[in-house]
Amino acid sequence: MTTSQIRELIATQPRVSLACLPTPLQETERLSSVLGGPRIFIKRDDLTGLAFGGNKTRNLEFRMVQPVRAEANVLIMALEITSNSARQTVAAGNKLGMRTVLVLKGERPEVLQGNLLINHLLGAEVHYARDTEEQRQIIEAVADSVRRAGERPMVLTSEPIFDIGSALAYLESTVELIEQLQAVGAAPDYLYMTSGGKGQAGLVLAKRLLEAPFLVHGITVSHEYDVEPRTAQIANDTLAHLGIDLEIDPSEVVSFSDFVGPGYGHVTSAGLAAVELMARTEGVVLDPIYTGKSFAALLDHIERGIIPRDATVVFVHTGGTPAVFTHAEAILAHLSRDRENDRTPVTADA
Ligand SMILES: Cc1ncc(COP(=O)(O)O)c(C=O)c1O
Repeated sequence: MTTSQIRELIATQPRVSLACLPTPLQETERLSSVLGGPRIFIKRDDLTGLAFGGNKTRNLEFRMVQPVRAEANVLIMALEITSNSARQTVAAGNKLGMRTVLVLKGERPEVLQGNLLINHLLGAEVHYARDTEEQRQIIEAVADSVRRAGERPMVLTSEPIFDIGSALAYLESTVELIEQLQAVGAAPDYLYMTSGGKGQAGLVLAKRLLEAPFLVHGITVSHEYDVEPRTAQIANDTLAHLGIDLEIDPSEVVSFSDFVGPGYGHVTSAGLAAVELMARTEGVVLDPIYTGKSFAALLDHIERGIIPRDATVVFVHTGGTPAVFTHAEAILAHLSRDRENDRTPVTADA
């Protein structure tokens, strides 16, 4: 298939318009020169447009079709307390005239920062739950009371379109970046992306449908999922959804899980250093929980020669930037350790 044929295929899918697309693809000349190669581009999916942007805004274009068609006016969702997905969904709901009730797993912190602050700013009704069971109970109770009040709730959980919409979204993002690279006479050798399996399925599909030689390296930031089989399953569900008779084997999915550190949501020194390097060389903000860890993996792979110095790499920036405010203390501690060790971080004239 060609990129135009993939675009035509995606155009058959119902969607609503929410994101600023295409997102920019930017070459990181300063970063590459500091590293001594390779050629690195950033796909700026942190600039998708809704409330600090991020990868989920792309899949919401497919995911929000159902609530729009059902004329829902209240979205109800159960998610993690620091969820980037929650923030972008509340923003999407606002744009579509729906209010959102979030049932977040965890304790309400004393200070509301990062995604939590923005959820409140966007006007979400936020409940906190101890565990998944309590989340389920609160969701049922909220849905009941919303119905009794004569409103039309829709519970968004892990409906199949969440997975398939993410794969379609990242199939499209890959087509975009390939076309953007073509415009400057380049082609990717490696794609790097933070992955829990959903978006990566789109990158893997793009590789297969285009019969392209680039390698897709997904970096996991939690041990929650077995990412290879999950990615293959989502890719296959998406192929079935599109009526394409192909199959992706889990062995085709490449995933690295050695940058998680102590666990999901915990900062690592490699991740913080990666966030700092990107900020100091390119003026681009990553976050220490998702994109900082995957960028740390990319740096490590360059250093260890997994990526040759003459390669062309695209780093997909999936967003998550409000987490820098949540982790302000860790970031400041990291920066002051740099100063104490007289380890001058990369500066403008490095
Ligand atoms: C910033 C960021 N990057 C990457 C991911 C992983 O994306 P996916 O769920 O499509 O695998 C997430 C998921 O929450 C995220 O918030």
